[in-house]
Amino acid sequence: MKVHPLRRAIEHFFSQPEAATDFTVQAKALEAFFALRTALEAGELRAAEPDAASPTGWRVNAWVKQGILLGFRLGVLSELPGDGLSFVDKNTYPARRFGVADGVRVVPGGSSVRAGAYVARSVVCMPPMYINTGAYVDEGTMVDSHALVGSCAQIGKRVHLSAAAQVGGVLEPVNASPVIIEDDVLVGGNTGVYEGTIVRKGAVLAAGTILTRGTPIFDLARGHVLRATAEMPLIVPEGAVVVPGSRGVTRGKGAEWGLSLYAPVIVKYRDEKTDLSTALEDLLR
Ligand SMILES: CC(C)(COP(=O)(O)OP(=O)(O)OC[C@H]1O[C@@H](n2cnc3c(N)ncnc32)[C@H](O)[C@@H]1OP(=O)(O)O)[C@@H](O)C(=O)NCCC(=O)NCCS
Repeated sequence: MKVHPLRRAIEHFFSQPEAATDFTVQAKALEAFFALRTALEAGELRAAEPDAASPTGWRVNAWVKQGILLGFRLGVLSELPGDGLSFVDKNTYPARRFGVADGVRVVPGGSSVRAGAYVARSVVCMPPMYINTGAYVDEGTMVDSHALVGSCAQIGKRVHLSAAAQVGGVLEPVNASPVIIEDDVLVGGNTGVYEGTIVRKGAVLAAGTILTRGTPIFDLARGHVLRATAEMPLIVPEGAVVVPGSRGVTRGKGAEWGLSLYAPVIVKYRDEKTDLSTALEDLLR
């Protein structure tokens, strides 16, 4: 495999703690970082990319994540320029303003796309939403209000990230897979997808579904339980329709107290009715 020309520089500066202090080294390190950031924003480099040879179908580019971390190490707190929003409210309660001396870090924007994120043409961003650095959001995707695309998350084509959908960021460890949402997935309102979970093409996460590394998914349609392992993340199969459910605790105090635990359930695989339900969502855009 051809090594990207930036890779050696990024790996070198990442392994040099003095990159943050020595002026000459710092300038060169910044140069490498800015080149990486530009390539990330153009979608030419990605924190993770499809790779048929990988067991998950995705390869993590650890050096790209190292470069993103290098950018945090090299950055200094400063007042960032911005057009600012316009507000109308009681004059006794103006918006607070902060300076570096306040020691508070204010990340810009009600809706904000951070440098180092790729947002393809035709993506719709409904305010307020946030796309963090290293994220990749492909064509035709809708990022609805209050949705979060975490650092390095990879979002495919024609995905609908519904209102308040939270796609977690995975920056460290650098070899850890970010959350990946493949093409044509519907991520329902108030969902949360975290810790490197992969949602395969065309799957549907019903409103309120939460997925983490430690969350087993109960596949009623195929009769088995899906879990992450030490080597593999949690993977939602292609076309699965996952809804939030619960399962009774069968042992100990949990059983005695009649408790149940949250359990995402695959009720079926995408059918014509699902296509209709999700197409209606499209009409609402
Ligand atoms: C999942 C979804 C797309 C429905 O898909 P569908 O293929 O039409 O599903 P169906 O209606 O055929 O339901 C299949 C089964 O799952 C159950 N089910 C469907 N949605 C469910 C949900 N959200 N929670 C729990 N159970 C659900 C149904 O009751 C049905 O079970 P049953 O046959 O035992 O009654 C829809 O429920 C959903 O969550 N849409 C997203 C809404 C949203 O977040 N919009 C965002 C706007 S910004």
